[in-house]
Amino acid sequence: MLKIKRTSLIKVLFSNCLVLYVEIHALPCYNNTKYVFRGVITMSAITAKEIRDKFLNFFQKKDHLLIENASIIPKNDPTLLFINSGMAPIKRFFTGEERPKSPRLCNIQPCIRTIDIDEIGDKHHLTSFQMLGSWSINDYFKEKAIALAYEFLTDYLKIPKDKLYATVFSGDSDMGLDEDIEAKEYWEKAGMPKEHIVSCGKDDNFWGPTSETGPCGPCTEVFYDTGKGKEYVLGGEFDTKERYIEIWNAGVFMQLNKNSDGTYSRLEFTSVDTGAGLERLAMVLNGYESVYETDMLAPIKEKIENSIQEKKGEIGLSQRQIRILTDHLRTISLILSEKVKPSNEGRGYIPRKLIRKCIMIVMTSRLNDFNFDEIIEFVVDKYSELYPNFKECKKLILSEFAKESCQFKKVLEKGLEILNEIKSKTSKISGEQAFELVTTYGVPFDIIMDYASNSGMKVDEGEFKDKLERHKEISKKSDVNSQNEKNIDLEKFNIFPPTIFKGYEDNETKASILNILVNGDKQTDNLKIGDKLAVILDCTCMYAESGGQVADEGFIINGENKIRIYDVKKTKKDVFVHLGILESGDGNLKLKEKVLVKIDTERRKMLANNHSAVHLLQSALREIFGKDIHQCGSKVEQKILRFDFNYDKNIEENDLFRIEKTVNAYIRENIEQKTEIKSL
Ligand code: SER
Repeated sequence: MLKIKRTSLIKVLFSNCLVLYVEIHALPCYNNTKYVFRGVITMSAITAKEIRDKFLNFFQKKDHLLIENASIIPKNDPTLLFINSGMAPIKRFFTGEERPKSPRLCNIQPCIRTIDIDEIGDKHHLTSFQMLGSWSINDYFKEKAIALAYEFLTDYLKIPKDKLYATVFSGDSDMGLDEDIEAKEYWEKAGMPKEHIVSCGKDDNFWGPTSETGPCGPCTEVFYDTGKGKEYVLGGEFDTKERYIEIWNAGVFMQLNKNSDGTYSRLEFTSVDTGAGLERLAMVLNGYESVYETDMLAPIKEKIENSIQEKKGEIGLSQRQIRILTDHLRTISLILSEKVKPSNEGRGYIPRKLIRKCIMIVMTSRLNDFNFDEIIEFVVDKYSELYPNFKECKKLILSEFAKESCQFKKVLEKGLEILNEIKSKTSKISGEQAFELVTTYGVPFDIIMDYASNSGMKVDEGEFKDKLERHKEISKKSDVNSQNEKNIDLEKFNIFPPTIFKGYEDNETKASILNILVNGDKQTDNLKIGDKLAVILDCTCMYAESGGQVADEGFIINGENKIRIYDVKKTKKDVFVHLGILESGDGNLKLKEKVLVKIDTERRKMLANNHSAVHLLQSALREIFGKDIHQCGSKVEQKILRFDFNYDKNIEENDLFRIEKTVNAYIRENIEQKTEIKSL
């Protein structure tokens, strides 16, 4: 018989991971043999590290080889901004382009999902997270994958079976895929009750590819029943927002490859790809309301709250805003630690967008002096074991954040002044006002939308978009006008086939005339000396301005007729438009007539030299100022070149001298020049 002191603490194992400490107070009752107990239950949380260890242990025991995780910056994959899933860095295993060391693999991969940015602030979406991943490459398929998933969740993590639901693919005729009846059967066989298996369409249960193209397939996902919200009844609505939280994509059944033309082809072999968000799993296993209570995020969130409270005496931000700061500051640190600089396009736009959102939150809440450095340092220290880059890049992360936020604060100060003024008069931001804010003051449109939604205002998005479109049209036209003098709308030449470019191999070439326009738009084969012409040919050796290098100059010749070409433009569809003046001849030039195209070779040589010099200059700058230097633009002309690059400081006189010396040293090396024409 258990002998209990008046108050004692008993450790009860609930599942392998949750430890309940039950405090028992023994009170004397009717007689000495009976007691009344009052229990106070304290839970000791399962940590993220424990979950990571359990996951890897389980899959390693099942013969999965633990492989190293990759950086969040994709390698050799221009179609993807960031690694967004555990399988992204190893997708060549699924196509057969590369062979893994073992057909069964597992690891834990940091991921960034920019697609969820607008969901952040709810209980379980994050812009960055750690994905627990396991894979079978041309090895086991659906049955074993499902059995393993169920075993891990119920036997290993001891999640009560009645809390688990699985979704399976309901089929799609366009893709030529039937309902995944097998997956259903295997779940049942594993022990999942029939009423807990839900069929869903391709939006929910077809996964991938990670980017535009690549391996993909129907999947089966596991959900945890939080018990709150609308209960699922067979065939009814499955509420994945409130009640059922997705905890594991327990099997993407890789069998298709999406091609660049949008079609699907069968992969040569089938594979399984699974992935579970660690933060979500930690939330569910600990019975938390949100991922922000887990040991990965709660300390950051608390730090933010304390920092505000210390200064202001109250928090003054909504829970949603604090969650956004918590999520974003962690993700920003991760991206900046990979030396991605905030910028206006591509990868760099993501840290820019996240930093701006953080600044917007503190400034609209009048917390202008919020100490971001303190929080970022905390994040970096907390995660430096998991992300080795953090320690070495701490300074860089802080300085990049400071630079970006300082610039944006200036923009936002003026923008907020205007927005607050609009708000004091009306609850609608007109398209005109939004347009003015974007184009004159540089306030990003999504920040205006955020402001509006936080202030219960509406934005006339339609009118804004119209204005922006018109503005773009006008600038495009004036651009073409100024470059083209004669008001030629280049894109109208797209009715012709793309011009074959022979200028890498030849300085002169024979070609056929496809079209000649005189003074902008008149088509005639009766030309006069001095006419300004736009000539389209089937092929050319004249380079059209692109990549910063100006166009070739030269002549188009047919007998006595000589057109001096002073500029060449390329349309979006690669039709070359030769702009020139008829200098001599009788002007009788017919369509389909053969002509000789000749470039000014001396001039081209000087352009080529300057083009090479741009690359030498870039290399010298990287040698002197470090590998962070990259090209932001360039102009290559006959006598000058311009090279734009990222650098925040002044370039001193002696730096200039070093750059010059380095470039000249490269030139003096007199490296042998080779030309090889390769396919793109
Ligand atoms: N690639 C799948 C996902 O990201 C499984 O990991 O959901």
